Amino acid sequence: MGWTYSVIRFVFVSVSVCECWLLPYTDSIMHGEVQSPLYPQPYPTGLKSEWNLWGPDGSQIQLSITHLDIKPSAGCSQDSLTVVYDQKILWTFCGQENSTDHPGKEPIRSPGSKLTLIFQTSNSTSEVQQHIGFSAAYWSTVIDCGKPEPLLNGGMTYLSEFQNKFFSIVQYRCNEPYYSLPEDANAEFTCGADGKWKSSHDSVVAPTCIPVCGQPTQHLSVYQRIIGGNDAPEDTIPWQVQLKVNNAVEGGMVIADRWIMTAAHIARQATNPVSNDTVQIYMGQTDVQSLMVSPVYAASVHIHPDYNNPVTFNNDIALIKLQDPITFNSSVMPICLPAQNATYVTGTMGLVSGFGVTRDWGHLSPKQLKYVHLPVVDQETCRDSFTTSQEKRGGGQILTDNMVCAGLPEGGKDSCSGDAGSAYALKDNGRFWAAGIVSWGTGCGRQGSYGVYTRVANYLDWITKTMQEN
Ligand code: ARG
Repeated sequence: MGWTYSVIRFVFVSVSVCECWLLPYTDSIMHGEVQSPLYPQPYPTGLKSEWNLWGPDGSQIQLSITHLDIKPSAGCSQDSLTVVYDQKILWTFCGQENSTDHPGKEPIRSPGSKLTLIFQTSNSTSEVQQHIGFSAAYWSTVIDCGKPEPLLNGGMTYLSEFQNKFFSIVQYRCNEPYYSLPEDANAEFTCGADGKWKSSHDSVVAPTCIPVCGQPTQHLSVYQRIIGGNDAPEDTIPWQVQLKVNNAVEGGMVIADRWIMTAAHIARQATNPVSNDTVQIYMGQTDVQSLMVSPVYAASVHIHPDYNNPVTFNNDIALIKLQDPITFNSSVMPICLPAQNATYVTGTMGLVSGFGVTRDWGHLSPKQLKYVHLPVVDQETCRDSFTTSQEKRGGGQILTDNMVCAGLPEGGKDSCSGDAGSAYALKDNGRFWAAGIVSWGTGCGRQGSYGVYTRVANYLDWITKTMQEN
């Protein structure tokens, strides 16, 4: 009938007496009673009795005191009943309670499979005492850890045949390839004797899944508003977003599940950030018509404090916090932030994308997300292109060290109006990182001129601080 026989020992030691029992139990039943000697007659003086209760491995013992009458003594100096687990006193009584657990209400629960009761009486009492002592019921329950904490953007599998019981093992995993466990994470948890799920490092906290950045599931085949570019196939630039601010349409990029990075010059109204309700964010589609269907909304807009429009485009960077976190999939994934020691090596090929215009003069907006590959331009070469050209191409704007240029001396390939805020991505160790933000230029794709991008690596501290504080 499903009875399991195992060793349940119930030991009572009184002066020189020891009685031991073997009791049958099922999953939750092993029970009995313990009483003070002579109960319900007054207990003898000069006594030290000890009861050791053992349940099977993985069980807990519960003890409910049903009657309690012990001669009160100050500081438990005379008669007392004490419940001990592993040398720790769980509860003690000497006429007055010394615990928050109230007998008869909540049973005392052992953290593990054993429990000891100690009943002591003094022999200093000369007159016959009238207190009858205690009576208690005990039973064992098999440890149940309950369901392990669920893992957001992940799941779990049981490695043990049985679930949520003592010694059950569960393994957490993240929804690859969009999320992964941190390298040092402990993914295996075991149900312990204390009824808690614990990792091998004794952690009781479930791991967290971190978004994978800069690794689209689909690759652009050629390494080679966007001028002179190609249509981007689906899922190849999953961090690209389109921002509608008032009525202007520009770009941006996903950098975290609640954060979009963009250019400051499109997210401000005069010198203030635009109000949240004027911002609509579209993502997950490369086709403009399907893209513009369901926007997500901004919770807050953060412009770099040193952005000083309209004098220069210096510090042209802004962050937009989303109202709701994004769950990443093949069409929406973040781009990585620059590493602490990120470098911009002249000639390195980068990837620019956007929904901006495809002609220098005119407003031909594409139906599809576009991309083009452009090399990092030497800083001095780029600076000179704005100061020494016959028409002073910069129109008074200067190239600062917070900017990086990309493009070809012969022109023909560039970002343009409507692309601002989009990413200029460089690739390291197979991951794209946000090297630049489309910021400004003189015309688009002109010979001898380059596109200018916000040098994101200079803003790592501001980005992390802003994201942490908000
Ligand atoms: N300021 C433009 C915009 O708001 C971006 C221009 C980029 N120009 C260039 N030649 N790369 O969309």
